[in-house]
Amino acid sequence: ASKRKRTPLLLSIFHLIPVSTAKNGVSSKSRKRIMPDPVTEPPVTDPVYEALLYCNIPSVAERSMEGHAPHHFKLVSVHVFIRHGDRYPLYVIPKTKRPEIDCTLVANRKPYHPKLEAFVSHMSKGSGASFESPLNSLPLYPNHPLCEMGELTQTGVVQHLQNGQLLRDIYLKKHKLLPNDWSADQLYLETTGKSRTLQSGLALLYGFLPDFDWKKIYFRHQPSALFCSGTCYCPVRNQYLEKEQRRQYLLRLKNSQLEKTYGEMAKIVDVPTKQLRAANPIDSMLCHLCHNVSFPCTRNGCVDMEHFKVIKTHQIEDERERREKKLYLGYSLLGAHPILNQTIGRMQRATEGRKEELFALYSAHDVTLSPVLSALGLSEARFPRFAARLIFELWQDREKPNEHSVRILYNGVDVTFHTSFCQDHHKRSPKPMCPLENLVRFVKRDMFVALGGSSTNYYDACHREGF
Ligand SMILES: *[C@@H]1O[C@H](CO)[C@@H](O)[C@H](O)[C@H]1NC(C)=O
Ligand SMILES: *[C@@H]1O[C@H](CO)[C@@H](O)[C@H](O)[C@H]1NC(C)=O
Repeated sequence: ASKRKRTPLLLSIFHLIPVSTAKNGVSSKSRKRIMPDPVTEPPVTDPVYEALLYCNIPSVAERSMEGHAPHHFKLVSVHVFIRHGDRYPLYVIPKTKRPEIDCTLVANRKPYHPKLEAFVSHMSKGSGASFESPLNSLPLYPNHPLCEMGELTQTGVVQHLQNGQLLRDIYLKKHKLLPNDWSADQLYLETTGKSRTLQSGLALLYGFLPDFDWKKIYFRHQPSALFCSGTCYCPVRNQYLEKEQRRQYLLRLKNSQLEKTYGEMAKIVDVPTKQLRAANPIDSMLCHLCHNVSFPCTRNGCVDMEHFKVIKTHQIEDERERREKKLYLGYSLLGAHPILNQTIGRMQRATEGRKEELFALYSAHDVTLSPVLSALGLSEARFPRFAARLIFELWQDREKPNEHSVRILYNGVDVTFHTSFCQDHHKRSPKPMCPLENLVRFVKRDMFVALGGSSTNYYDACHREGF
């Protein structure tokens, strides 16, 4: 095999990044931000800057706003939605060598986490009884010297060990969410059937739990990426999705620079443009970028940063138009209802003093988190990066024990008052939280009202005629 010259990809990229406080260029301050900040961020969205936020390369411990509450508030329950960590691409760029990334977990490779070896050794003693079928057939940690398609990488494991440790310091050490003699039914664990989501969930839990006892772990399997199993049938949601896809297609056709770029890349790899586009090259290019591996070359030339910038810029433009046209919002309101409904159900049981399911973890995908963010009205939030976390905290006011409140956090940022159900609340109340009733009212009714029809429940909204 010919040895390709490696150009120091990230080294040069990081000079483009306007924040330079942290060693690898992505400071904890910029990593925390989910809404564009006109003061410190480039006025024109920089595609490479956005891509590096998406990579979420582990660096020094980040500061986060989870668990912040006045001291007369008691933490009742926590509901965590994660996207899996960094993974190998799902697609290959045709006729090129795929990036050489090692998916075994080793101490002498960066990024590293002090719990990495213990994680591997604990996982290798894993117990089949801890998983609902068919999860028990999945490997419990990544282990291929050349990653398989979609496999979680060491970076992905470290990202979630870090998430787990951060949540442990806040929720267990500081707020004592679980009693010392916690039991299996105090956790609720659910994952899709991909190895990367299961392994991400395990890494987070391994960082989170004080003692990872296999007898107290039970992961349920969720067949749907929308976490809607049982209530997935929703024809109107599918109609929104079709219209959204049509919008996406038309926007792409209008972008002649994008078409030109795909054409150039197709020539380099010597396949028809259509085939190149269908191979979703941005997914593979992001992997090259996140892992500091130069883009592929053939004897016709190299895929390069200019190609990457054009495609990534189009993605950003697409997200902007998606917000404006609101078709995705319609899809999201219906798509996110089942999981939000499940979550408020769990919260309501906790307010009644039930001690089960105090910590819920849903290990999921960008196509899970994205609709939830959009449905909550967080349309300005960035696209879910690797190992993104969205958290719902339920609190009780010790001075008024009947009052329960929620906080919503995205990647450590408090976004409670950016949600559509609590936007106006903080102007009227001095409390730094949102009443649980607001969230309940939103999920039970207002989500459907927001769709603009006359429906006030999920079933009607899903089957509305003449949409
Ligand atoms: C990227 O790789 C090059 C060599 O291939 C190396 O010199 C450089 O330090 C790397 N950059 C980062 C940020 O790891
Ligand atoms: C919402 O949750 C309740 C239980 O909390 C359940 O009875 C109801 O069927 C759920 N509705 C939908 C549409 O998922």
